Amino acid sequence: MKAKLVRMTESELNMPALMEAGKILKNGGLVGFPTETVYGLGGNALDPRAARKIYEAKGRPSDNPLIIHIAEMESLPLIVKEIPEKAAILARHCWPGPLTMIFPKSDLVPMETTGGLDTVAVRFPSNRIARELIRQGGGYVAAPSANVSGRPSPTMAEHVIEDLGERIEMIIDGGQVPIGLESTIVDCTEEIPVILRPGFLNQEKLEEILGNVELDPGLLAENEHVRPKAPGMRYKHYAPKADLSIVEGPNEEVTEKIRCLTIENLLKGRKVGIICTEETRGLYPEGIVLSIGARAEEETIAKHLYEVLRKFDETEVDVIFSESFRTPRMGMAIMNRLLKAAGHTVIQVGGGGSDEEI
Ligand code: TXA
Ligand code: MG
Repeated sequence: MKAKLVRMTESELNMPALMEAGKILKNGGLVGFPTETVYGLGGNALDPRAARKIYEAKGRPSDNPLIIHIAEMESLPLIVKEIPEKAAILARHCWPGPLTMIFPKSDLVPMETTGGLDTVAVRFPSNRIARELIRQGGGYVAAPSANVSGRPSPTMAEHVIEDLGERIEMIIDGGQVPIGLESTIVDCTEEIPVILRPGFLNQEKLEEILGNVELDPGLLAENEHVRPKAPGMRYKHYAPKADLSIVEGPNEEVTEKIRCLTIENLLKGRKVGIICTEETRGLYPEGIVLSIGARAEEETIAKHLYEVLRKFDETEVDVIFSESFRTPRMGMAIMNRLLKAAGHTVIQVGGGGSDEEI
């Protein structure tokens, strides 16, 4: 099967194409579509066969639950058993938008969609194409990121074609997504809400709205005994083909260290990739240098992270050295993805001591 490709923009929806896509979903088929975070692989969330197809197309373990996407607030009560007060407050402030929340699921939601859990993750995206598709598809669309399991999430339709072009019925090309990292996942079923996956909406923003919000300790775990609460965060994800290391420390020492590592590896006959920023790209004379964005505009770093990781897969480098991006607002989300891609290989420099690999 070759996916039918259709193009549109949020300001000019192609309604006949969206109606066709809606029919595909209602018949149990799969459609790739843009959201404001990353591209999704949509199937009817209330149809267990569609959920099975999604797992198969992605090559994803079927115990890793899917997020149900809705297009109206009124759709929520049917798929959940209760709406905790803090979830209602967060929904009012942040929906539609890049936020997913966990609820106890109602009987309408098949266990196939939730990977066997009795909770369900729900998101109300702001992208107009996504919302119209959800409406046309019956109101409830299960959508993981539209990548093959283990690859970086897609931020443009080309990535979806690359990974799933032969496995699904239709792909809607809505251009490059604005955020580039998956939604923030918050569990409001606990007394103190917990962030299960960091994203564009950060802890500070959530605390402004809700008061105290915690970060799932499993996310910070260099300690392997603490498991993340979101099953998907336990898998090694987004791993590029090459060995990726993050170099961390004061800026000047980082660039100096990456230059040294580059030369060392080139002399060993290895092809070297470097992930840097607009501010530092001129400082690397050797290697294949890709700028991920500008530190001065940290949103651009989030937006291009997955794209850059995919590009390095194409150029077939042997090793990649990346600067670290602990930026003020999105640093937590960016580094969560980058550290996973690097399998937590961090080379610490600076502070006067010797370099340390952790
Ligand atoms: O931005 C996004 O959220 C994108 C777009 C397409 O909307 N979707 C996305 O889906 O990132 P996916 O399947 O790639 O990631 C879903 C994450 C996984 O880590 C999964 O384990 C977690 O959500 N999740 C889903 N249901 C859950 C539940 N009931 N409890 C805890 N974690 C859950
Ligand atoms: Mg994913």
